Amino acid sequence: MPLTMIPPADAPAHYPFQFERIVTLGDGSPARVRPIVPEDASLLGAEIEAADEETLYLRFFTPVVRFDEARLRYLTELDYDRRFALAAFTLDGDGMAIARYEGAAAAGEAEVAVTVKPEYRRLGIATSLFGLLEEAAAAHGIRRLYANYLAANDAAEALLAKCGYGDVEFDGSIATVVKELPGPSE
Ligand SMILES: CC(C)(COP(=O)(O)OP(=O)(O)OC[C@H]1O[C@@H](n2cnc3c(N)ncnc32)[C@H](O)[C@@H]1OP(=O)(O)O)[C@@H](O)C(=O)NCCC(=O)NCCS
Repeated sequence: MPLTMIPPADAPAHYPFQFERIVTLGDGSPARVRPIVPEDASLLGAEIEAADEETLYLRFFTPVVRFDEARLRYLTELDYDRRFALAAFTLDGDGMAIARYEGAAAAGEAEVAVTVKPEYRRLGIATSLFGLLEEAAAAHGIRRLYANYLAANDAAEALLAKCGYGDVEFDGSIATVVKELPGPSE
């Protein structure tokens, strides 16, 4: 039987079904990728609670992260335009990874970030999620993506370089890289 997506039960009216995907990972296994919805708030809270300190430090630059309900709501209630996020799941429904872009103050710019659970790394999930985020960003008029990461984070550096980000700039221990997206006619 062909694999199908399982759309979230309570998707908001503007939920972008066109960004749902079934992706094949580096080990041949499939993953379901879909935009985040408000009902993901409690799962996100549980995943952050359970995450190891190193992962939290690499993603948020601090080893202890406590998100209250308001913050979890903010992270999962998206306009899918200036603010967009994706999650990847195993076929059993285990959360594997999350990636997002957040529109910056400057028009046409957004920041991207991704976290993959340690047991699912090096399978191409972050690469797939960044590819899909780029599609979504370009479709919403975003022309420039950037990422901030700890300069000592070799995995993020290698991932972002492989995904086409460059022009690295350093501000103390934080590195920033950018990627220009093609315009509509390019
Ligand atoms: C960085 C991170 C997101 C990578 O996720 P991932 O799903 O394992 O990445 P991918 O499998 O798509 O890897 C793509 C490429 O990135 C590079 N890469 C990824 N992890 C790497 C590592 N640990 N060491 C060196 N290169 C690495 C490789 O070039 C890899 O391609 P390859 O496996 O064919 O050699 C993951 O390690 C993570 O969640 N880290 C903690 C949070 C974090 O650092 N977020 C970054 C903020 S932008």
